[in-house]
Amino acid sequence: MQVFKDGEKDVDPSLICRRSLAIIGYGNQGRAHALNLRDSGVGKITIGARPGSANIGRAETDGFQVLNPAAACATADLVMILTPDETQGKLYEEELAGNLKPGATIGFAHGLAVHFSIIVPRQDLDVILVAPKGPGATLRDLYQKGMGMPALFGIAQDVSGSARALALSYGSALGCGRAGLIESSFGEECETDLFSEQVVLCGGLPGLIKAAFEILVEAGYSPQVAYIECLHEVKQIADLLWEGGLKLMDESISNTAEFGGYLAADRIVNDQVREQMRAILEDIKSGRFVAALMSDTKAGGKELRRRRQTDAAHPLEEPGREVRALMERFEKK
Ligand SMILES: NC(=O)c1ccc[n+]([C@@H]2O[C@H](COP(=O)([O-])OP(=O)(O)OC[C@H]3O[C@@H](n4cnc5c(N)ncnc54)[C@H](OP(=O)(O)O)[C@@H]3O)[C@@H](O)[C@H]2O)c1
Repeated sequence: MQVFKDGEKDVDPSLICRRSLAIIGYGNQGRAHALNLRDSGVGKITIGARPGSANIGRAETDGFQVLNPAAACATADLVMILTPDETQGKLYEEELAGNLKPGATIGFAHGLAVHFSIIVPRQDLDVILVAPKGPGATLRDLYQKGMGMPALFGIAQDVSGSARALALSYGSALGCGRAGLIESSFGEECETDLFSEQVVLCGGLPGLIKAAFEILVEAGYSPQVAYIECLHEVKQIADLLWEGGLKLMDESISNTAEFGGYLAADRIVNDQVREQMRAILEDIKSGRFVAALMSDTKAGGKELRRRRQTDAAHPLEEPGREVRALMERFEKK
């Protein structure tokens, strides 16, 4: 694994400062990118937002000029596409492809649209990926604390010969060069990111939490206590894992928790579960997952909305609100 950090000869922070940038989308990633880049000395940043977007006001309050995506990209050397993955194809075709400057660079924070050919970039463009490994708010928060979030970077097209240098410079201005810019590719970033989201972060972990909560409540335990045991404490364990891997967690928990954990993991993450993990990876690699995502987008995001509503109505949400309010009062004292 090749990792680049600020101060190394391949990372030239001044390169990005000499370019004019358009950031299309001012959501989780868009806002954090724009603010971090500006604070790193990038002078020319225009935000591209669709008319009527609630984020126009936010970007203007933050001091940025906001134009529609077609106008914002027309004069930019680098256009960073930070809109939802599933709608990037339509945006590119209808507003960007015909307006991008000859020889411009387009950039992404996730490899999906390019890797699965939802966007087939014009032949004259450089195409770069700088994918911070975490939410936009954390990217901004770390930057302001003088720290950084690691990012993967990759190149899909390098017409100019300077795409890699620009990706490294952009990553550095985001603050990611303080932590590490890891050389990767659109394919590797996309497939591993989708897999970890689905199997661990946004699928497996919340799935385990919900099922464990339901089983405790079904068995007659208090929903508030079930919430604390199954969800609230996840943060403490995640922090230990993040800070020092399995070793620090094992050293920091009781022998009882550790011994019980080994036995339970063997039973829960069994051969059948591993088989499902492999099947999920295959669905990602073959494009079946992306086809399902795009088909739901075409249907107006019906399935996504239905699932979101089911989650919002889950019985752990109410005790969760109570417990969080209690903890907040407790922490304020
Ligand atoms: N969320 C994360 O933490 C994270 C982490 C790493 C990488 N990424 C990647 O970053 C990219 C952006 O994700 P995100 O989570 O930041 O998205 P998001 O928070 O949902 O924000 C999307 C932004 O795009 C705007 N938008 C939506 N459709 C648009 C269109 N057709 N034209 C112009 N603007 C449009 C939205 O504005 P309105 O809806 O108000 O118009 C909003 O400002 C994705 O590629 C994602 O995979 C995200």
